[in-house]
Amino acid sequence: MTGTTTTTTTTATTAATATFGAVGAAHTRVEGVAKVTGAARYAGEVPYPELAHGWLVLSTVARGRIRAVESAPVLAMPGVVAVLHHENAPRLNGDYTNAFGVPDPIAQIFQHDRVPFVGWPVALVVAETPEQAREAAEALVVEYDEEPHDVVFAAGLPGVYAPESAPAAQKGDLEVELAASAVVVDAEYSTPEEHHNPMEPHAAIARWDGGRLEVVDSNQGSRFVADELAKLFSLDPQSVRVRSEHVGGGFGSKGTRPHSVAAAMAATVLQRPVRVVLTRRQMFSLVGYRSPTAQRVRLGADADGRLRAFDHRAECLTSTVYEFVERAAEFGRAMYDSDAHYSQTRVVPLDVPTPSWMRAPGEAPGSFALESALDELAEKCGLDPIALRARNEPAVGPVSGLPFSGRNLLACFEEGASRFGWADRDPRPGVRREGRWLLGTGTAASTFPVLSAPSTAAVTAEPDGTFTVRITASDIGTGARTALTLIAADALEVAPERIRMRIADSDFGFAMIAGGSMGTRSWAWAIRVAADELRERLALGGGIPPEGITARSDTSQAVGALEQKERHSFGAQFAEVAVDVTSGEVRVRRMLGIFAAGRIVNPLTARGQFVGGMVWGLSMALHEEAHRDRASGGHVGADLAGYHFSAHADVPDIEADWVDDPDPGDPVGIKGIGEIGVVGAAAAIANAVWHATGVRHRNLPIRPDRVL
Ligand code: MOS
Repeated sequence: MTGTTTTTTTTATTAATATFGAVGAAHTRVEGVAKVTGAARYAGEVPYPELAHGWLVLSTVARGRIRAVESAPVLAMPGVVAVLHHENAPRLNGDYTNAFGVPDPIAQIFQHDRVPFVGWPVALVVAETPEQAREAAEALVVEYDEEPHDVVFAAGLPGVYAPESAPAAQKGDLEVELAASAVVVDAEYSTPEEHHNPMEPHAAIARWDGGRLEVVDSNQGSRFVADELAKLFSLDPQSVRVRSEHVGGGFGSKGTRPHSVAAAMAATVLQRPVRVVLTRRQMFSLVGYRSPTAQRVRLGADADGRLRAFDHRAECLTSTVYEFVERAAEFGRAMYDSDAHYSQTRVVPLDVPTPSWMRAPGEAPGSFALESALDELAEKCGLDPIALRARNEPAVGPVSGLPFSGRNLLACFEEGASRFGWADRDPRPGVRREGRWLLGTGTAASTFPVLSAPSTAAVTAEPDGTFTVRITASDIGTGARTALTLIAADALEVAPERIRMRIADSDFGFAMIAGGSMGTRSWAWAIRVAADELRERLALGGGIPPEGITARSDTSQAVGALEQKERHSFGAQFAEVAVDVTSGEVRVRRMLGIFAAGRIVNPLTARGQFVGGMVWGLSMALHEEAHRDRASGGHVGADLAGYHFSAHADVPDIEADWVDDPDPGDPVGIKGIGEIGVVGAAAAIANAVWHATGVRHRNLPIRPDRVL
């Protein structure tokens, strides 16, 4: 760690008890030793006697019907015990809806013969070993009646519509204000299809144990997955237990996915434990991804840069079987004042896999377009990009009119500008040369909404003086388990070493998923409430019985009573790039992110999250894009050889830090830090490339062939 992290510990103004001191001090991961010694088992690694191995077979056509699954030859292959498909698989509950109350066909596998995209699950081959299962799966012949498909996304396709789930925001008269503007930017931007590649692929082992369906899974919320499996298999929710103690990354991709449903199906049919692990290739169609976007931004301003008109429109795709909207046009709704505002995302269904959440869904591509357009406006107005943002700083929510719970965007820019050396910047583009490299710097703003979700927790005082916390939290590698340990330690006024943090077991009850940057905030609240009650009970005196004394919490009411405000994290991103004018290669030399993201619980892992997000932004700016083949409807290069993202050599001097920003609407002052690191990072790099070369790049990624 080369971090120069300032530990800005602050007591939340609403804190009911004094801070004990664990929160805000760097702490290594409580499960770190178990992870590096291999003692920590991930979902696919749990050994069960009689474990069978399932291998999914995915469709090779983009639209049509399954005519035949030729199981017989495969069933005769060594070790094969079953081939499940739409004709013989258990019937799932046809009324199934996912956690959002929407029917989601991706979880309802093997129920019909229709194929809506390349990579749709058509069969599961189960064998005694993974190798036998894979060989048989690859040998399985599936015949299709193919139908014409359409997989190519572009702006303005027939069929694009304004989804009810993502309403437009509107204020004032846009055309009047644009006409009255001295300076107008009107530009189109695009971002490509981007894919989830967490280190640990999706994996699940399912088995029946004394009348209960037990699943060890890699997911972002075990209670959610348990409830969805219960619905799918028409079981009592208490008859399903899902655990996911260690998860190697998720970032929106690890909900209820076909691997866990397939494992549960096979375990039911065979009455033995079955493991299903997805390959990288399979992940490209089965776990969600970021839709490509086509965006248009129109900004109208007075000569001094004050915005009169703000217009952000985006289009994205979804599948034909589920509506998911990458709400890119919404990023700016809380960002800048303007007399008129319009923002809306539209969506077009194509014969492609269903996209889904991927770190900062909406904000990541939306911030690229809007924060690039702001840079273009600054250039046209002859203003420094930071001064332009300061000029349009709103007093209340620009569209909502609601007060901000706290807004430290300018504090981030001030701190960042000073540490980055922004004051010395020559605003002219294309004038700094170092050999064959052109050099430039850029900046962009960042934001992410702050939300809380109801959760439950149980805290037990043990007779030996330790405490056990039980909560269905999920640590997807972010350090959440450690953060919650520090929260519990302070709430109980004991050292973190006396806390036993048990997480990710659906039997612990309902809790928020690790998502929406809401996990730690929502879980910490529940732990805090339970710990406070336990302290009160312990203060009454008396001994602790062998089973301990347990206090439980449910934050549903408290969270529901939260005052309506514009509640956001903010950040300022800075980048320095070098552009090789002979090869078109862009190298990022330096990145700095300064964030106002609530109280920072563990500076060590928080820095890792911010930096990780910024690396993701770098990757988005320069490397990542999935290619879909018009003829087959499938991906070209759907693997880590064909899909490029940042590796160590691409990652330069990156630093992340933060300003003091406790949230008064949270008992611990937390806001959430999961996603904001990626937001604005790609725009800062694109703006730096403009500064280096004088050329605007409005289409990501900024590949060498686009630079030349
Ligand atoms: Mo995140 S996209 O909420 O896992």
